[in-house]
Amino acid sequence: MDFDFNQTPDRRAIPGEKWGRYAGRDVLPLWVADMDFAAPPSVLEALAARIAHGVFGYTHPWPALVEAVVHSLARDHGWAIDPGWLVWLPGVVSAFNLACRAVGAEGDEVFTATPIYPPFLAAPGNNGRRLAQAPLIRADGRWQWDRAATRAAIGPRTRLFMLCNPHNPAGRVFDQDELLWIAALAEERDLVICSDEIHCGLVLDPDKAHRPIASLAPEIARRTITLLAPSKTWNIPALYCAIAIIPDAVLRARFRHAARGIVPEINVLGLVAAEAAYRDGEPWRRALIAHLRGNRDRVVEAVAAMPGLSMSAPEATYLAWIDCRAAGLEDPAAFFEAAGVGLSDGRAFGLPGFVRLNFGCARTTLDEALTRMASGIRDQEKQPGAKRPYID
Ligand SMILES: Cc1ncc(COP(=O)(O)O)c(C=O)c1O
Repeated sequence: MDFDFNQTPDRRAIPGEKWGRYAGRDVLPLWVADMDFAAPPSVLEALAARIAHGVFGYTHPWPALVEAVVHSLARDHGWAIDPGWLVWLPGVVSAFNLACRAVGAEGDEVFTATPIYPPFLAAPGNNGRRLAQAPLIRADGRWQWDRAATRAAIGPRTRLFMLCNPHNPAGRVFDQDELLWIAALAEERDLVICSDEIHCGLVLDPDKAHRPIASLAPEIARRTITLLAPSKTWNIPALYCAIAIIPDAVLRARFRHAARGIVPEINVLGLVAAEAAYRDGEPWRRALIAHLRGNRDRVVEAVAAMPGLSMSAPEATYLAWIDCRAAGLEDPAAFFEAAGVGLSDGRAFGLPGFVRLNFGCARTTLDEALTRMASGIRDQEKQPGAKRPYID
């Protein structure tokens, strides 16, 4: 079956964050992390059938849904899980906030590396924990762990290591060596790992594969909370359905306890969509990856031609993390917005001077956005006294 990712529905016709932010303005929204594509036909058909039934009573996840998740983890990531390890949740952000609450005590520390998806930075403070952080570094053309800085940032009160893999916004798919290093560090310092793997279905390169850190070894699985959702891969984020996989029974009980009475059950339509996505969404996902890979290459090429901008090609996600520090822009996100492109501001991710561009859109939208960005940069270069403070 063919899927056309260049024919996208008009998102201005419905309420929505991404396009709504710039309603009435000529700004192309390439910011918040959802894509402009309709969900897969298999998901839409499952939803339509469920809606046609007409009754929306309380509903827990059912065996065929659990089987679809278990099977897809084995098929796609070589990870055999026990269905009893699953905890269903309305979102991954709720889940990593619960992880902060479930691990350690008031005043303990939660480690994460920056730049990072902004809710990671807020989660420790939301839950009476302190944030410990170290920067990722860009070396040999890719974002990597600063192992010395990471070790130094983890102190005696650090209890939780919050990992994002594949990484938002850096686009890395951490390899076996990196994951083993994180796992060894967690063992050495007795840390629980909370691994947000929401982007695991969006690996762009055929020579790369996502490896759940918990699948490395049973002793790593025992100290890991893995977070997944169908939302990014199949573009159904507002259906709010996510999963925590927690092999250790004590940790799972603490996590469930933290959720008690506060975190609601999952909307039945989210569950229906999840089953269809995990069971029948693979042909659509493969076609999506081909489209995103083409878009990614387009962004890399265009950014390389813009003076003062640079980036490493993302290995996964539909997000490009662009370094604008050498372009002499006081506020890169505001600058590109004025040029007609809405991007995410690196400041929110803990790294000013960067912007994040969402290329989960039709090729024509992307091309127009890249043209606007290039022409904005060209115009400002012509300004008298334009400064170009090149940084290493
Ligand atoms: C790394 C990461 N985790 C979590 C989320 C959001 O998860 P949810 O909408 O299920 O809370 C996003 C959305 O962009 C994300 O990029």
